[in-house]
Amino acid sequence: MNASEIRQKFLEFQESKGHKVIAPAPLVLENDPTTLFTGSGMQPLLRYLLGEKHPDGTRLSDSQPCLRLQDIEDVGDPRHTTVFEMLGNWSLGDYFKKEQIENYFEFLTQVIGLDPEKIFVTCFIGSEKYGIPKDEEAAKIWQGVFEKAGVEAKIVDLDTAENGDKRGIKPGERIFFYNDKENWWSRGGGIETTPIGDPCGPDSEVFYDFGEDKQDVEKYGKSHPASDGARFMEIGNQVFMQYRRNEDGTFSELEHKNVDFGGGLERLCAAQMGSFDVFKISLMQPIIEKLEQLSGKSYDNNTDEMRIICDHLRGAYLLAAQGLAPSNKAQGYALRRLIRRAILKALDLGIAQDFLRETISPIEDEYKSLPDSILTNREHALEILEKEERAFRQTLNKGLKELEKIVRKQEIITGQDIFKLQDTYGFPYEISIEEIFRQNLKLSEHYKDEFDQALAEQRERSKTASKGMFKGGLEDHGEQTTKYHTATHLCLAALQKHVSRDICQKGSNITADRMRFDFNCDHKLAPEEIKTVEDQVNGWIKADLPVIFAEYDKAYARDTLKAHGQFWDKYPDKLKVYTIGDEKNPVSREVCGGPHVEHTGVLGHFKIQKEESSSAGVRRIKAVLE
Ligand code: ALA
Repeated sequence: MNASEIRQKFLEFQESKGHKVIAPAPLVLENDPTTLFTGSGMQPLLRYLLGEKHPDGTRLSDSQPCLRLQDIEDVGDPRHTTVFEMLGNWSLGDYFKKEQIENYFEFLTQVIGLDPEKIFVTCFIGSEKYGIPKDEEAAKIWQGVFEKAGVEAKIVDLDTAENGDKRGIKPGERIFFYNDKENWWSRGGGIETTPIGDPCGPDSEVFYDFGEDKQDVEKYGKSHPASDGARFMEIGNQVFMQYRRNEDGTFSELEHKNVDFGGGLERLCAAQMGSFDVFKISLMQPIIEKLEQLSGKSYDNNTDEMRIICDHLRGAYLLAAQGLAPSNKAQGYALRRLIRRAILKALDLGIAQDFLRETISPIEDEYKSLPDSILTNREHALEILEKEERAFRQTLNKGLKELEKIVRKQEIITGQDIFKLQDTYGFPYEISIEEIFRQNLKLSEHYKDEFDQALAEQRERSKTASKGMFKGGLEDHGEQTTKYHTATHLCLAALQKHVSRDICQKGSNITADRMRFDFNCDHKLAPEEIKTVEDQVNGWIKADLPVIFAEYDKAYARDTLKAHGQFWDKYPDKLKVYTIGDEKNPVSREVCGGPHVEHTGVLGHFKIQKEESSSAGVRRIKAVLE
């Protein structure tokens, strides 16, 4: 079955169960300032989930195109995409867990023919802190449907089971309880971060098992449904929206209990064809084949690049087909960024000529069945993309020439230079950095601060420049981001001390609300490791250690002080080193431009919210200061 057929079968099935099929919303939602793009099927329906009456009744279904830019760095693995279609059905105070689970199982096994033996499910283990009970009800219903299908289905507490994450799956086990990190749904993620006023609740996720031979025990440990790796893939999520978050942080039961089901069409297609790689489905394969043809290279040897290009071109097509034009602001900038990233990745494959039109055309047909009410501009989409492609190639050529000029004039490239390339020639920040690394040029140690400062000055001058929304690293130097910056140093030091001495930073992104930190590591952190790292950081915070800096010669900083640094060959001869704790025996010593707090005591409580894979051999921590 191709994607159009599966989409159609889903909607027909929902119709047969009394749902009204509604038109999906555009990717750019009017009157919703909370996100740039529609990121889930429920988003356009929020007010109905909160109790307003929907004109089409209490049972709804659709297939909603979604874009999640926050996943952009995960694209390249077999299943992450920024753009996807979410098959959805909703009960607005109508049916609840039993009907939802039974119907969904019927659809998966009877309508599209998945083998029930390959289906595994997860449920919410409950939260003592918030008085929310374990979802035994959902687990029992699941057990019933599996038994009816002749499939053994034992229920397991994975969160509390001894050695939880590493135990793997024992024969007959099929229904797994997890904590709120996996099985609580709100627009803000886990239970702690549920936004005030939002509907939310326990969820029950469904996974497809691609077989034991797909588990990579060395890298990820033994697989279980929610673990990393290629064995299990989530294909659907049933949110039982029973609660709403109150101002004081507690949860109240909603008067009408809703079901919010969402499942990625692309992943479902992949499961249906037995491919653990979603890029093999009909919405993607024609693009990949074109890329192979144009580059003369194979997908098998250039998987990451081809997946990224494919993902970004689909996203760009859908945005352009909805009438969005590339620009330097908000959604228009996101479109621009998708197009540019695709072009740059194609350059890596040796595709230097214009290629967007001929690469995208083969999938236009797959979107014929999306309604004209959202693809209002489909006949001009390719034209829009082509125009941007030509303009960007000119920008690239010009920017590279300017960069060459700078290199001829001076030894070290500064953040001001990078800013000027972006501001005057449209040569993007990210590309400057990539080029500088690619050509092995010398980059000022303080380039990020210099860039930020130049940007701030320019903003002051014009007061109109757009926010540095997509730039890596620090976004501003507000008090809160400075705290997160110091917390990042402590987090790295704790990882080195308790997990592995060889850990170093592979990336970091800080906003005023959270830190994200990438580091090399060959395994998923065990819950005890996460706890140890947290406790260590909090211990250092409690100890209120001084944070000081000084300038040193590069060789002295590296060889004598043994400061931690990522790019020694890029640093200038004199550099700034930040030390936390006792100068003779510090807890952390890093080459860094700052800024930092003066004492760790001001940081508050450090909490790791999530630990996940970022790319091969690289883990990602998301943490907050509470
Ligand atoms: N709203 C739920 C999700 O996005 C279905 O996973």
